Amino acid sequence: MRRMTTLRTIEWISESPPALIPGHVRLIDQTQLPETLAYLDTADVEVLREAIRMLRVRGAPAIGIAAAMGVAAAAQAVLPASREAVLAAADAAAARLAGARPTAVNLFWALERMQRLARTCDAPTAQALAERLAREACAVRDEDAAMCRAIGGHGLPLLRDGCTVLTHCNAGGLATAEFGTALAPVYAAAEQGLSVRVFADETRPLLQGSRLTAWELMQAGIPVTVITDGMAAQVMKEGRIDAVLVGADRIAANGDAANKIGTYGTAVLARHHRIPFYVLAPTSTIDLRTPGGDGIPIEERDREEVIRGFGRLTAPESVAVYSPAFDVTPAPLVTAIVCEKGIVRPPYEEALRLVAERRPRPIPPTTGAPPAR
Ligand code: MRU
Repeated sequence: MRRMTTLRTIEWISESPPALIPGHVRLIDQTQLPETLAYLDTADVEVLREAIRMLRVRGAPAIGIAAAMGVAAAAQAVLPASREAVLAAADAAAARLAGARPTAVNLFWALERMQRLARTCDAPTAQALAERLAREACAVRDEDAAMCRAIGGHGLPLLRDGCTVLTHCNAGGLATAEFGTALAPVYAAAEQGLSVRVFADETRPLLQGSRLTAWELMQAGIPVTVITDGMAAQVMKEGRIDAVLVGADRIAANGDAANKIGTYGTAVLARHHRIPFYVLAPTSTIDLRTPGGDGIPIEERDREEVIRGFGRLTAPESVAVYSPAFDVTPAPLVTAIVCEKGIVRPPYEEALRLVAERRPRPIPPTTGAPPAR
């Protein structure tokens, strides 16, 4: 069995290991792909907020990791200081980062986790508290990587040797710590020597499918074909697709799932063509506080992304534009939800509550952190 690895989308770089602080965040600047693999190094909360806002780091789990690391960076930035000053810096950073994007619940999940830790941690000094926050942010990253691996394992039996899947947007390694959610079973299949082909929807308007999904699958040597979004119906009708695999930015308590705009249409097409439609996401994406999809805030993006996404004007300059970044696929169109705990099938309400309430226990970070006291 060959071990598939994807690039580390985001990580905390310590300047003097095994201590985690001082340190900074290193992330792949996804706006540069597929032309250039470039990294952004920063310990500045405002730079991180901009990176999230402008999709340099994107995908629900990766956004959560970036936010957690942003809080840690803000805490260390005020040292030497009082414990209260570190707490205040963490809270201020959380407030700034929470405003970066509204839909991916992992952002708020990660910020709440960091703030809870800051308030309850018994670290005796400001330095120790900042170190503890950096360790927690690294744990958020490491746990996400482990959850993606587990999603791959649970999703693998849904695929068979020689099958072809369709995916929308990028829910691969680039959208997570590594390995991805929707693409995790594809990588897991490759590890087993199985042949799985991928059709990647281009994903208008910012082309996460053609720029990112196609790029990362090609890096991994997995056969991938790009189609424009409007081609999905024809490709399904031609019998080329065995399953649809997508990620999610937020899964409501009833199983309604928000994901990149165009996902809902893909689900409707899949139902019409009797193709199973799977949503793959870690439990950090399940939002039990939101009863149904109507309650999920949908981000609206700047008109420029639609009419001049990559520099060239593609619509009349002054035309009216509406640009919701996400849509909600109603639970009845979702064949199953795959999370790190296993496969959840309808009816979702009770099953999602059970898996989300039993989120994995925090695991110790692997990045040179001192042992927990
Ligand atoms: O706007 P983006 O690129 O952040 O949208 C990302 C998606 O919609 C992903 O499919 C979703 O976050 C799941 S990532 C594992």
